[in-house]
Amino acid sequence: MTRILMVCLGNICRSPLAHGILESKLPADKFIVDSAGTGDYHIGKAPDHRSIATAKAKGLDISNQKCRQFDVSDFDNFDIIYVMDQSNYEDVVKLARDKEDIAKVKLILQNSQSSTLKEVPDPYWGNAQDFEEVYNLLDDACEKIAIHLNR
Ligand code: 4NP
Repeated sequence: MTRILMVCLGNICRSPLAHGILESKLPADKFIVDSAGTGDYHIGKAPDHRSIATAKAKGLDISNQKCRQFDVSDFDNFDIIYVMDQSNYEDVVKLARDKEDIAKVKLILQNSQSSTLKEVPDPYWGNAQDFEEVYNLLDDACEKIAIHLNR
């Protein structure tokens, strides 16, 4: 089993989309995908209704996901931790205990050549189009990740 964790700030907009998208591209008998937020604002809540609607329009149901906060134990429970932006990176790395923990943390767009963006913009204060753009960025990044992991 390879275990992959998607992390953003709130765990209601970006990382639930990344979670649902990557999960849909990988065989469930070989990969576990989950998501968490560095913040504690929305613990126990479902994803933002705009993330749910954007995913639904693409044929993906993420409405059953439940927000949780990133915990130091996630370094033990996951092999790869993808963060959405530099601020998430710093918040997660702050909790790392050693170099091995730090090595698990990667910016999700780092190797996504089709995007000049290196960070997934936070759509929380944005509109439906911002959510659509985030979805497309994540779909492209997850496609590449899935191909790489499935090799
Ligand atoms: P996310 O977006 O990190 O993509 O889930 C956010 C959601 C909520 C907040 C910030 C970002 N917030 O401050 O409540």
